[in-house]
Formats: sequence, structure tokens, C-alpha cells
Amino acid sequence: MSSRVSAGPEKEEEVEEEEEEEEEEEEEEQEEESVNPTVVKMSQIVMPCHCNHRQELSVGQLLKWIDCTACLSAERHAVSPCVTASMDDIDFEHTISVGQVVNIKAKVNRAFNTSMEVGIQVSCEDLFSDRHWRVCHAFATFVTQRTNTREKVTLKPIVPHTQKEQVEYSVAAERRRVRTHHDDIIKDLVSYGSIQQSDHSAVDNVVAAEKTKVESLELVLPPHTNHQVNTFGGQIMAWMVNVATIAASRLCQAHPTLRTIDMFTFRGPSQIGDRVLLRAIVNNAFKNSIEVGVRAEAYQEEGPNRHINSAFMIFEVLDKHGKPCTLPRIRPEPLEGERRFQEAIARKKIRLDRKYIISHKQGEIPLSVPWDPRNQVYLSYNNVSALKMLAAKKNWRLNSEKNEVRLYTLEEKSMLSFRVEVESDVPAHRAFHILAELSNRQHWDPHYQKCELIHRVDDEDSLYRVVAPSVSKGGVGSPTSASPGEGILQDFILLASQRKPCGSGDPYIIAVRSVSLPTYPPIEGYNRGEVLCGGFTILETKNNMSLICYYIQATPEVLPYISTDIAGLSSSFYNAFCACRKYMISKTLQSTSKEHTDQYQATNTDSTQL
Ligand code: COA
Ligand code: ADP
Repeated sequence: MSSRVSAGPEKEEEVEEEEEEEEEEEEEEQEEESVNPTVVKMSQIVMPCHCNHRQELSVGQLLKWIDCTACLSAERHAVSPCVTASMDDIDFEHTISVGQVVNIKAKVNRAFNTSMEVGIQVSCEDLFSDRHWRVCHAFATFVTQRTNTREKVTLKPIVPHTQKEQVEYSVAAERRRVRTHHDDIIKDLVSYGSIQQSDHSAVDNVVAAEKTKVESLELVLPPHTNHQVNTFGGQIMAWMVNVATIAASRLCQAHPTLRTIDMFTFRGPSQIGDRVLLRAIVNNAFKNSIEVGVRAEAYQEEGPNRHINSAFMIFEVLDKHGKPCTLPRIRPEPLEGERRFQEAIARKKIRLDRKYIISHKQGEIPLSVPWDPRNQVYLSYNNVSALKMLAAKKNWRLNSEKNEVRLYTLEEKSMLSFRVEVESDVPAHRAFHILAELSNRQHWDPHYQKCELIHRVDDEDSLYRVVAPSVSKGGVGSPTSASPGEGILQDFILLASQRKPCGSGDPYIIAVRSVSLPTYPPIEGYNRGEVLCGGFTILETKNNMSLICYYIQATPEVLPYISTDIAGLSSSFYNAFCACRKYMISKTLQSTSKEHTDQYQATNTDSTQL
């Protein structure tokens, strides 16, 4: 992603990189469109009436087109009227100029019960140079409208066909989880109270926040409404962007560029005849960026105000070379203004952390991302999504099979990944319960010499320190492996994130990745290893059995443990997974007999009481 908003990719490498990415995607997209009936496309030529004073497409207009395309895709799947429930954060990578063409493509990634996630890609096309580039992508949630008798309309499931669709389908469940946690993440972050008190008197060039305040009233007329006579989500977003832009301009006394929008949540509908009151103010101004908050309320001439939306938008001011200018600081209003000033700092932190976590690429050093409870939801999201993406890859090759344990490899560019697959007589929920407790693994896997639970973050996330034996040429557990005490031990600090299936056909997931923890620095006598992406998927199969897949991406520290198996020099992974199968059966038998004993005792106690 480019780091600045520009009128198109500037550097040659940037263009090539984007073109390469687009070509790769194109083939799959063509395949996708032939089978995916939810794909809806819109193309618009940008006319002066769609533009701002710089002859660039206004973000408000773009949001209207995005919302409309996404709604048509949602309704094509639902075959009933749908409303926008939310629009996830959007980063605008490039601006679009008058005369260029905007291409928007929307498709339903996954349907849940009454809601569905629609993925939207926006690209720009220069008709004269035949160049195409990505402007932004967005994810919106649409909800089916209740019927006249107020009954909910349940959606039919989406069946993903291509690998890309499978990844989107699978990761959509994770994005939904982040969405539902969104308000809590912000509240938690703010309540951490680690933000320092601001001293506005010490800074030159300070603008009073009141000066940036905007209040604007709109009357909802028929052109603002959709085919169900509700105000268009896109229209509300466009009005909100409008007032936010005015507030930001009042601070910088220039024409600001909208860079990022934090999630829009549509709390309630509005209809023709509603008055929509929009209020905006600059909450905080950083060195090169401004956060503006907007609140939208709707009311009828007689009636209470209904809070329908709030959003936060980040603006920059760019000089003529496209470089961000230094901005004046803000003096917040007392009380509420001071609170929002602090909350804007918290939101900035989370935005930066989230970007770092989500854009952290394979092969980047260090592989571990810092653990911070404030980033927990994103780290967990990143952990599970990475495993889902790895599991959805198509080109796994069966390397060998022993004792019904299958070892697969996947070679991609510079990355080598492994999958070990085993069927188990244990039901999926039991297998999940046993495998999710990482410390159980010491009982069946010689690669886990010790496993210490550092912190149970919540029901779904835990931090562990795992000690692995040193490896020699022969690999762990092989006849030629190093004897205990020889060589240096390895340790790993791991975040384990677990998920139960979100819908039928989904596997249970236990994802593992390395994190860095200031309280657990590398120690003498141990080589600190890193795991980029690994873990288990557990799928319910027929007759109460399960298919267990273990995935791991090869980092220099992990590779020696498995490469000897790949080369056929040892059987340590086969042995480990045979042991795993036995361990799960014995644990299941133990717990079943305990359940029987408890039941027996309970029945006896009941009959004694009688
Ligand atoms: N983001 C994503 N999904 C959301 C959501 C949000 N902010 N709020 C609710 N949902 C989802 C729920 O997860 C649930 O999904 P599921 O049925 O697939 O499990 C579904 O919406 C219904 O949730 P429920 O709690 O029963 O509904 P609600 O009473 O909260 O109503 C809306 C949700 C979106 C229908 C309601 O808030 C609304 O009418 N908003 C205004 C919509 C609008 O006018 N949009 C712009 C014009 S089109
Ligand atoms: P919060 O105050 O917690 O941020 P709100 O939904 O009340 O949440 O408001 C969202 C944003 O709208 C605020 O952060 C602020 O920037 C802006 N805002 C709210 N009320 C006003 C107002 N009366 N005048 C100008 N801007 C406002």
C-alpha cells in the first residue's frame, strides 16, 4: 500500500507491483465471476459535478457509489430488501481526478443469519494511458429488512468456489468478531489511562477547538432515499464527510485530504421528511494529521432526536509535492472536548498498531509482533486469519503417508509450509478441547519439552512459553538426534487463539504465532525461536470422528524439526501425531468414565435423598 494519498501510483516499481498483483488476481476473478452470482459492478466516469475544488472525486460521492453497489450485491443474494448496518474502516490510497473512470466491484463474502459481509474493491482507470490502480477496498455489513409482519429474513449460505472466495469466507467470520468488539476495544483502550495529560499552553500555533465546530441540518428528500424509502447509507456518509471536511479546513485554513475513515455504524434508520442534524469538531490535531469527529442525529419536526451515526475521520494537508504539511495544534474545549482529545490519541494508537499488525508481512524481521493487551483483538484476528488463509491454499502436495498420518508441503515464493493430517476417532469438540490447551502437548509431542501458561487472556486467547529441545541433523526423536543437554535449547513465546465454528462446515481453529513480551525477554541458555503462523484446524467428520490438520510455516527455527521428515530421514512427526491420536482417545475415555461416575453418584445421591 502506498504511504501517501496521491493521484495515482507514482513510482515505476509501485505501478509494476500493483499491475503484477492485479494480473494475478485477474485470472481468479474471471473464474470467480462465472460462478459467483453476487458480483455487482459499477463504472462511473468522474465528471466535474462529482468533484471538489481540486477537480478530484469527492469521497462523499464515492461512498454513495460504494454503498449502492454493495447494496445491490447484498440484495441479489438475499432476494429481499437490505440495509447498511456498518462500513468497516477505509483507507484511501489514491485520489481520483475528473475524466478518470471509477470501477467498483462488490460481492457477498459470507452470509451469517440475517446479516452478510460484502467486500468492495474500488479501482481507478486512466482512459488515455490504460493504467488501472487500486483506490481502496472496503467491507460493509448489510442486514435483511424484517417482513411486514416483523419477521426476520434468514439468509441462505454462500458457497465459496475459488480459493480467494474460500479465504474471504473464512476470514469474514473473524472480521465480524472484530466488528462486534469495536466499541469495546475503544472503550478499553481509553480506560487504560496510559495517555499523558496534555499541556496545550506549551505549544505555539494553537487553534481553539470551538473555531472548528460545524453544525449543519439536512432535510431528507426523495432523491436521498433508496428504493425502500430509507435514507441511503451512502448519503448519510456523504453528509458526514462534508461537515468533517469543513471542520478540518477551519483548523488548517487549507483544503485537507481525507485519508482514513474509522468504522461507520448505522444505529438506526431515517426516512423521507427526517431532519438530519450533523455536528462535527476537530477532536485532536497531530503533527501531520487531524482527527475530526462527526455525530448524526435524525428527528421529525415533532419528536425526539435519534442518534443514527457517529464517525471519526483522519485528514492530512498535502503540499504541492504530495508531502504532508505540519499542522497547527488544537486547544480542546473543557470536559467533553478534553475527553475526546484523549480518545483521539487512543484511536490513533490503535489505528497504527492495527495497521502494523495486519500489514506485517511474511519474512519481515522480527516475525514476532509485540503483545499488548490493547491490541489483543487485532493480534487475535491476525493470528486466526493467517491460519485460515494458509489452510485455504490450493497447492498443497502430499509428501508422504505413514500410519494414516499424511504430511503435505506447500512451496510459495520464499515460504515453505507444512500440513500434517490425521483422522481421529475423537469427536471434533473433544479434540478441540484437548488440543486447545497447549500444555497438553508435552504428553504426546517430543518437540514440546516444556509448556508454561504465561497468561490466560480470556476464553479465546492465551500466552505460553514453550521450550523445545535442540535439534541436530537427525531431528528430534530420531536415532541420530542430539542427546539431552547437548546443544542449545529453543524457546518460543506464543499467542494461542482458539475459535469454535461460526457456522456449519467451519472447522474449530487453534492458531499459534510468536509475540514478543517485555516480561519474557530472551534468556541465556535458550535460543529464542519464532513461529510465524501455525496451529490446528479440526473438522467434524462422519460418525463422531474428526479430521485434524496441523499447520506450520517454516522459519529457520522450526524448519529443522520437520525437514528430516520431509527428506524421509526420520518419522518424528508421524510418531508424534500417532501419539496425539492415542492421547486424545485416552483423555476422552477418562473424561467419559468420569462423567459416568459423576452421573452414577448424582443418581445415587438423588435416590438417597428421596
Ligand atoms: N455491524 C455489523 N453487523 C451488525 C451491526 C453492526 N454495527 N449491528 C447489528 N448487526 C448484525 C447482527 O450481528 C445480526 O447479524 P446476524 O443476524 O447475521 O447474526 C443482525 O445485524 C441483526 O442484529 P439485531 O441485533 O437483531 O438487529 P438490530 O436490532 O441491532 O438492528 C440494524 C440492526 C442494522 C437493522 C439496525 O441497527 C438499523 O436499522 N440500522 C440502520 C440501518 C440503516 O438505515 N442504514 C442506512 C440506510 S440503508
Ligand atoms: P463521543 O463524544 O464519545 O466522541 P459522540 O457520538 O457523542 O461520541 O460524538 C462523535 C463525535 O462527533 C465527537 O467525537 C465530536 O467530534 C463530534 N460531536 C459530537 N457532538 C458535537 C457537537 N455538539 N458539536 C460538534 N461536534 C460534535
